[in-house]
Amino acid sequence: MLDIVIMAAGKGTRMKSSRPKVLHTLAGRALLQHVLATAAGLGAQRLVTVTGHGAEQVEASMRAAFPDAPLAFVRQEPQLGTGHAVQQAVPVLDDAGTTLILNGDTPLIEAATARALVEASGGTRLALLTIDLADPTGYGRILRDGERRGDKVLGIVEHKDASAAQRAIREVYTGMMAAPTAALKRWLARLSNDNARHEYYLTDIVAMAVADGVPVVSAQPASEKEVLGINSPLQLAHLERRFQHAQAEALLEAGVRLADPARFDLRGTLDCGADVEIDVNCVFEGHVELGDGVRIGANCVVRNARIAAGAVIHPFTHIDGAVVGTDAVVGPFARLRPGAELGAEVHIGNFVEVKNASLARGAKANHLAYLGDATVGARVNYGAGSITANYDGANKHRTVIGDDVHVGSNCVLVAPVTLGAGATIGGGSTISKDVPPGHLSVARARQVVIAGWQRPAKKG
Ligand code: UD1
Ligand code: CA
Repeated sequence: MLDIVIMAAGKGTRMKSSRPKVLHTLAGRALLQHVLATAAGLGAQRLVTVTGHGAEQVEASMRAAFPDAPLAFVRQEPQLGTGHAVQQAVPVLDDAGTTLILNGDTPLIEAATARALVEASGGTRLALLTIDLADPTGYGRILRDGERRGDKVLGIVEHKDASAAQRAIREVYTGMMAAPTAALKRWLARLSNDNARHEYYLTDIVAMAVADGVPVVSAQPASEKEVLGINSPLQLAHLERRFQHAQAEALLEAGVRLADPARFDLRGTLDCGADVEIDVNCVFEGHVELGDGVRIGANCVVRNARIAAGAVIHPFTHIDGAVVGTDAVVGPFARLRPGAELGAEVHIGNFVEVKNASLARGAKANHLAYLGDATVGARVNYGAGSITANYDGANKHRTVIGDDVHVGSNCVLVAPVTLGAGATIGGGSTISKDVPPGHLSVARARQVVIAGWQRPAKKG
């Protein structure tokens, strides 16, 4: 039986932000969300988060992100140290099981590492996740009765409390451990704050375990980035780049041709077919699917979208909540908003905005246009500067454009309105009445030509 405690009450002073530290985002998800997502895959009966600074905001956002996980929250106010943090969770931990302790600000911990830590504890031992660091400054040092990893662990000394000789130790405590819950509770009850920071140090339980004759063992992460905690915007930005680089490399390995892995951002999930090409500075958010041979130009932002095989997205295009059909061409400088559904071979050109509108095969809107709340038939040609006037100030209305309609330039289609298949709308028309199939409709003042007119001349 496993319970997981995640410490997330700290203020994060060095973030210099009004937002609670664990709600800052890495690859588009809150730091704590990364930890909870990993924890949720470990089969624990309860995921207990210790909150303090910004507790209400942190709890609400995690409940929204994990509606089905066995979340529990305990408050720690004031924050008197990591030992004090875990003490707050004691009432909800099951004596018969094991407790795994994680940090809310260490987002990239892997499930495999957490599992190895729990296995190392094995229901009878105290297991510490440790790592050797070239620069161990600031971390708690692992004290052993010898110099090697196999030597017996005696305790952890915090950096501030360490002697010069102890500060030379490079093996550090990562902030994560697993312990038999009943013993953990016994040790927590005996903590004192008689130390350099006058805090209740969780790390003091290690010497207690040794004194009780409980074996203390250690496990190590597969990679250093799993144990990097975030304390400042600089550390967050560095970890973001490392994470993005790892994602970019995985995509490159899978055959996706990223122009530059250093200029690629994925804040969510990206499924790619074969022969996908992505130019520099693109950002993908939420869940995006790119079919075989899709090409994405430079500087596009694509969020929650499905782009079918062969489609080409030209530079500076913004796509959100849209579906793009096979061999469609979009952009440059196009905007597809939620509910945009482009069929095969549709062309959307520069400065065209599409919202909650479907365009059937081969329809084209190539320049400076708006299609909102519309159903557009196959092969429609929608002229430059034309718009659907879909909003009467209170309600939205639909525009229906039949197959093969030709809408000239600079038209206003005042919805609700239907243009029958094959109809033609003269340029500059404001159309507020339905047009039957095949008809021409022109709704503009007739041109007047005045012969011999004189322009005013400048006086004096
Ligand atoms: C802690 C360890 C140190 C280890 C380091 C790894 C202790 C005493 N020290 O030090 O050995 O090398 O982590 O990063 O545990 N928190 C609370 N309530 C509190 C205090 C902290 O919830 O009262 C949370 C923080 O929000 C943070 C985590 O616990 O997520 C670690 O706290 P922090 O103050 O950063 O511990 P360190 O001093 O870095
Ligand atoms: Ca820390």
